[in-house]
Amino acid sequence: MPFNLDFEPYRIKVVEWINITTRDERLRLIEDAHYNVFYLKSKDIIIDLLTDSGTGALSDVQVGHMAMGDESYAGARSWDRFYESARRYTTKEHIIPVHQGRGAERLIAEALLKEGDVVVSNTLFDTTMGNFQYKGVHFMNLPDPSDYNFRGNIDLQKLEEVLRREAERVKLIVMTITNNSGGGQPVSLKNLKAVRELADKYGVLLMIDACRVSENSFFVKHRDPDYRDRSILEIVNETLSMADLITFSAKKDGLNNIGGFIATDDEQLALKLKTLGVLFEGFPTYGGMAGRDMEAIAVGLMESTREDYLAHRTGQVRFLNDLLDDMGIPVLKPAGGHAVYILVDQLLPHIPPEEFPGQSLVVALYVFGGVRGVEIGKLMFPDAQHNMVRLAIPRRTYTESHLRYVAETFEEIKEKADCIRGMRITYEPEYLRHFLAHLKPLDDWVKRCSG
Ligand SMILES: Cc1ncc(COP(=O)(O)O)c(C=O)c1O
Repeated sequence: MPFNLDFEPYRIKVVEWINITTRDERLRLIEDAHYNVFYLKSKDIIIDLLTDSGTGALSDVQVGHMAMGDESYAGARSWDRFYESARRYTTKEHIIPVHQGRGAERLIAEALLKEGDVVVSNTLFDTTMGNFQYKGVHFMNLPDPSDYNFRGNIDLQKLEEVLRREAERVKLIVMTITNNSGGGQPVSLKNLKAVRELADKYGVLLMIDACRVSENSFFVKHRDPDYRDRSILEIVNETLSMADLITFSAKKDGLNNIGGFIATDDEQLALKLKTLGVLFEGFPTYGGMAGRDMEAIAVGLMESTREDYLAHRTGQVRFLNDLLDDMGIPVLKPAGGHAVYILVDQLLPHIPPEEFPGQSLVVALYVFGGVRGVEIGKLMFPDAQHNMVRLAIPRRTYTESHLRYVAETFEEIKEKADCIRGMRITYEPEYLRHFLAHLKPLDDWVKRCSG
C-alpha cells in the first residue's frame, strides 16, 4: 500500500532546536504580547501551529536548486524554470509573479474591481477580503457544507440567486480551494464545474484562490470515484483549467517560504496585471521574489503533487483531529487538508461570542502548553457566526510525538474549561484587526486557571 504510509515519506537532514519555556515565563510573555499571539516571538513557542503558510521545510532538491538561483533583474534563468513549472501546474499561458498571495489579490483588486462592485465566494480568505474591502467592494460568502466529503463547496442555488439579482454588480466569483476559513475543507469538481457554468451563463469572471489545490486534488482523488485513477497533477490541471484567473500563494502548496503568482489565459488582463505588478510587486520576471525562491517554488509545485507526500500530510491533520475527537474535544469533521479546527462554541459554551471565546482558548493553549494556534471567529471576522481555533500543521515540519504533545495540552484545557473566561479588546486597528489588536482577559483567569 504505497500511499498509505503512516510515517514520514522523507528523512530529516537538518534540525531546528525548540526552546522550552516555563509556564511562569509564558504568563509574562503573553501579557507583554497584549494577549495576542501574533506579537509573540517564535523562540518563546514550543509547538507553532499559527499557520501552515511559509512555515514548512524545504527538500534537499529545493535547497540544491536554490544554489542555482539567478538573481538577474530581468530575464533570469530562474524565471524560466519558475514559469515552466507554474505553467505545467496551472495550464495557463500567462504567469504574473508576486511576492506572496496578497500581492496577487491587490493587483486583481486594482485591475478589475471598483467601489460598489460585488464579489461572491465559497468563503474569501481574510487577506482577499481585506484587499477587496479596501477598494470599497462588497463581498458575499455562500458556503455549502452539506456534502460531508466536500464541505468547502459553494451554495449553487444562492449563487445563482445573487447572480440573477445583482447581475450588474457581481464582478467576480472566487472559489477558495481548499476552503481555508471554512475549515480547510475540499471543493468538489462537480461543484466547481457548476460554478463555471453559472459564470458563463451570467458573464462573470471565475477566480480560483488555488494555494492548496494539491491538497484539494488528493481529496478529490480519494472521495470522488470518477477521479480514482487520475494523477494528482491531472486533477490539479483539470481544477485550474476551470478558472479565468488564478491567485496562488506559494507559501502553501508551492512548498516555499515566500512567493506567489497570478495565472490566466487572458492576454489583455495579463498585460494590465504586469503593468500594475511593475508598480507594486516587481518586474514581471521576478515579481518581488528572489531567483532562489523562484527555483524552490519551481521544484516545490511538483513535489506538492506527490501522492506519498499528500497522504502523509493529510494523514497528520487527520491524526491530530482523531486524537482530539477521541478525547471529547469538539473538532470540525471530517478533518481538512491543512489544519484542525476546534469548535470553541461547544468547548467553552459559557463564554459569550462578544467575549471572544476563541481568543480565550488561544491564550490558554499558549500558557498551558506553549502551543500557538489562531482564532477564527468574532475577533477575525466581526460578523462570524461561529468561533473556532485553527491549529495549522506546517508542511514536513512536526512529527507524531509533537502532535501528541498538542493533544496532551488539550487534556488540561478540558479539565479547566469552566475556569476559562472571556477577553476584551483594548486597541483595534482599522483593517484585519486580529493581527494587531491588543486584548486583556476579563479578570485574572489566565493566572488563576494556570495554577
Ligand atoms: C486561502 C488563502 N488565500 C490567500 C492567502 C494569502 O496568501 P499570503 O499569506 O501568501 O499573502 C492565504 C494565506 O494564508 C490563504 O490561506
